[in-house]
Amino acid sequence: MKCFYFFKGKKGQANSAPELRDQSKSNSPSPSRTAKSLPSPRSVPELYKEKEHNLRVFSFQELREATNGFNRLLKIGEGGFGSVYKGTVRPASGQGDPIVVAIKKLNNHGLQGHKQWLAEVQFLGIVSHPNLVKLLGYCSLDNERGIQRLLVYEYMPNRSLEDHLFKRGMPILSWRKRLEIILGAGEGLAYLHGGMEVQVIYRDFKSSNVLLDKDFKPKLSDFGLAREGPTGDRTHVSTAVSDFKTFIVLAFFIMLLNQHCSWLMQSPMNCHT
Ligand SMILES: Nc1ncnc2c1ncn2[C@@H]1O[C@H](COP(=O)(O)OP(=O)(O)OP(=O)(O)O)[C@@H](O)[C@H]1O
Ligand SMILES: [Mg+2]
Repeated sequence: MKCFYFFKGKKGQANSAPELRDQSKSNSPSPSRTAKSLPSPRSVPELYKEKEHNLRVFSFQELREATNGFNRLLKIGEGGFGSVYKGTVRPASGQGDPIVVAIKKLNNHGLQGHKQWLAEVQFLGIVSHPNLVKLLGYCSLDNERGIQRLLVYEYMPNRSLEDHLFKRGMPILSWRKRLEIILGAGEGLAYLHGGMEVQVIYRDFKSSNVLLDKDFKPKLSDFGLAREGPTGDRTHVSTAVSDFKTFIVLAFFIMLLNQHCSWLMQSPMNCHT
């Protein structure tokens, strides 16, 4: 069993996917970069190489056991990438209580699915912010029966904002919580756009990707579509892209306020801050 086979580069190269390595070449770092004025900004693959040891490499067998053979009773969600299961894994040290996790298992979607999985590992491998979901580790297995790609996240007990907006039977959120969720999600985006050595364009901002922890604190998830912001001589592109993204983010909130006006206006009457 070979986990993370695709990250094995040639000697001396970053252990990252060819497609991200190529991207980092064309966006060669430059001292004129403004995202966060550090002397020599590095690319996402370079940063990933530095931090990859923080991610745990799980075996497929370990994750199969963690989910009772990917039992459908433990399935907590399904998206374009695949199914999400609740599971328990042993702590990395081998000692202590089992850790409750969410395990996302890729449907077999070939190269595109692999690329999204890879982007998720690389971006979540380098970020660290209270409003971004924590990736604990991953599994990559290639054998004669096909490929397996899995991601292991911290478990978010209150599921997604989408669940609270659209699913029946979910607790009603107070005004205070709603505002805190919006502000927290904004903090996560602000960190991605300007709080790191690299600029990350998230590109998948939607209510199902705003996960809620036990205290309803929001955390952004799903970095499969994320891209590194343009750098160096291409900063003019960067500005255009990030302005556009900012516009999209604002449009999202306006849409949320308008389209779900009934939800926003009515349900808080039944709840307390
Ligand atoms: N870390 C997690 N903890 C708890 N539940 C999770 C976690 N990650 C995902 N989920 C649940 O699984 C659901 C599906 O998530 P997933 O990211 O696979 O798809 P999606 O965001 O709904 O759709 P898409 O794939 O189109 O972006 C979420 O809406 C959420 O309810
Ligand atoms: Mg999602």
